[in-house]
Amino acid sequence: MSQHLLLPLVVFAIRPIPGDFKDSAFGPTQEQPEDLDCGRPEPSARIVGGSDAQPGTWPWQVSLQHGGGHICGGSLIAPSWVLSAAHCFVTNGTVEPAAEWSVLLGVHSQDGPLDGAHARTVAAILVPDNYSAVELGADLALLRLASPARLGPAVRPICLPRASHRFAHGTACWATGWGDVQEADPLPFPWVLQEVKLRLLGEAACQCLYSRPGPFNLTFQLLPGMLCAGYAEGRRDTCQGDSGGPLVCEEGGRWFQAGITSFGFGCGRRNRPGVFTAVAPYEAWIREQVMGSEPGPAFPTQPQEPQSGPREPREENCTIALPECGKAPRPGTWPWEAQVMVPGSRPCHGALVSESWVLAPASCFLDPTDPDDAPPGDLGAWRVLLPSHPRAERVARLVPHENASWDDASDLALLQLRAPVNLSAAPRPVCLPHPEHYFLPGSRCRLARWGRGERAPGPGALLEAELLSGWWCHCLYGHQGAEVPLPGDPPLALCPAYLEEEEAGRCWNDTRWSLLCREEGTWFLAGVAHLSSGCLRPRAFSPLHAHGPWISHVARGAYLEDQLAWDWGPEGEETETHTCPMHTEHGACGLRPEAAPVEVLWPWLAEVHVAGDRVCAGILVAPGWVLAATHCVLRPGSTTVPHIDVYLGRAGASPLPQGHQVTSAPPLLCRTGGGSWVLVGMAVRGSRELFAAVSPEEAWISQTVPEAHFLPPSGSPYWPPEGSDLCPPDLAGASGSPRAALFLLLLTPLIQG
Ligand code: ARG
Repeated sequence: MSQHLLLPLVVFAIRPIPGDFKDSAFGPTQEQPEDLDCGRPEPSARIVGGSDAQPGTWPWQVSLQHGGGHICGGSLIAPSWVLSAAHCFVTNGTVEPAAEWSVLLGVHSQDGPLDGAHARTVAAILVPDNYSAVELGADLALLRLASPARLGPAVRPICLPRASHRFAHGTACWATGWGDVQEADPLPFPWVLQEVKLRLLGEAACQCLYSRPGPFNLTFQLLPGMLCAGYAEGRRDTCQGDSGGPLVCEEGGRWFQAGITSFGFGCGRRNRPGVFTAVAPYEAWIREQVMGSEPGPAFPTQPQEPQSGPREPREENCTIALPECGKAPRPGTWPWEAQVMVPGSRPCHGALVSESWVLAPASCFLDPTDPDDAPPGDLGAWRVLLPSHPRAERVARLVPHENASWDDASDLALLQLRAPVNLSAAPRPVCLPHPEHYFLPGSRCRLARWGRGERAPGPGALLEAELLSGWWCHCLYGHQGAEVPLPGDPPLALCPAYLEEEEAGRCWNDTRWSLLCREEGTWFLAGVAHLSSGCLRPRAFSPLHAHGPWISHVARGAYLEDQLAWDWGPEGEETETHTCPMHTEHGACGLRPEAAPVEVLWPWLAEVHVAGDRVCAGILVAPGWVLAATHCVLRPGSTTVPHIDVYLGRAGASPLPQGHQVTSAPPLLCRTGGGSWVLVGMAVRGSRELFAAVSPEEAWISQTVPEAHFLPPSGSPYWPPEGSDLCPPDLAGASGSPRAALFLLLLTPLIQG
């Protein structure tokens, strides 16, 4: 997994310039008032999480156009001057030619002009000398218009704050723009100017949020001249395309521009408020640039005494926001579990992803074999049942994924509820991963019902799973003759190891599953089972990563959460290329091919008979002690040790009594160069190919059984040279390999009745 650096890049969203602007006759400039009045919209009548602005509300907002499309926002500060962000105009350290830019004024919807809307060409672009990159500050620019703007109800300048002006923390201000409504999700037609209310955050509070690892595990150092506005819980923010636009606050009946939209980490993410260029500190620079132009920008005195604002929280005890999704007080009872009831068919299981949207397999509702199958028109009789929710909800809309009918991994549909549900304790939405989310091998996961599948046999504890690394997944599948792609970034398959056949006695062929994985107590919908995975173990799941943008585009307000766990463990990330362990018919390695009398071959092998009906393999590690896998001895969820009999010296020699279920947990034995056999691993639940290393349990074993024999620590000279027909060296300590769960049985002589 590579780490990407998100943002501070400008993504240029090019939108066509409305024709009316291009050939509008730019009439003579209106008479300019003597004293420039600023910051007062005519009294009348996205930005992420915002809403359509009313025409004329923000008359200083301009659109900066390049190559025929909107690139950035800006604000009119004087008839001939527009304030914007430097990064909109600087590429590779040079300011782009002013002639390539034009300014649209008095625009509301980019679809058509307002009365009084007009365009101006740009005569000059001025950028502070010390600007180099957004995240290093001084991200502001002044544009001198080739001819003054025509002021009117739709076109008016904003007031600028003096250097001494203080905007109190917690003040509600407004940001405006035609930028993306979510990450990589452009404002839809007809591009109505969006407004969003943002709260000013104190420097310490903002720095505190940015000091906690967020997307890509990144932190950030706020610099002087920057200002933060937004919310710790995210969800309302500016985004790509809003840059250069104003953040304005009302004081004494006038609007002052506190900030210029500059950058952020993603958009609307938790604990990552938007960063703005603070305007007040640049009073002197602005005055210097506009010197001589009449009338210049207005810097009215601050109407009230500068307020000190609420006491800022200290850095070490600021309030960071926790995820609002994925909370399940008791694993297994999922507050997002949704059942879609369609008359005439079995309930279809899905997951609540926001207050109004449920995600479920499209194949529940569409015929996957018929690509032309139209989504059903009559949703009137459909109902959605949610946990702890007395009412059956009606369905307003069904939006299948565009590839749903031919791509298994896209077998998804979103259902909109007619009325949003109140997100209290339950129902609650599940968290969804961003495209760059990497679920760490070893993550604790669970399987949950998905689609129209059968209920799982056995108790819910069977649905616990542990995520395998991409390499294990690839190797195990390869050994079974099935294709699982090489581990990629993002991964193309997720493999959880879980109890299946060995406990239930059969393969859950008819059951479809979703894979829920937990990070720091928060549950993510990580993947959904391939329809066609059959009985292969471990089952491969299609990761949901790739679908995050589609889901949040359709179901605005879905909870895409940043990765919460970054603990890569001592092995670090899975970056090196591994080789798959060797494979024989009987396991990964270590079984002697030539036939030999069984008792002689494996004198340490024990038959462990549990509760009279299960048999698994044990290993005699000392005269009085046998080692066995925990899951063989204990039933999931049970803590009482059942009655156990151990048979020695007969492993495999006599047939098992009828009715005994063999619980597979074969030990992996490897032979050292010295000729001794060593217990290296125990088969992981549900696999005959994957072994958990025993060595991490050395301390526990030797503490409990001091007389057990251990070979010198790993890397020992006992391992045979490469190429000999023994254990592959990467097996015992493979990164991301599951831990062995072992049980030591103290033997007492068997009194046979
Ligand atoms: N740099 C972006 C632009 O050029 C603005 C991003 C603002 N991001 C944020 N999360 N507040 O449009």
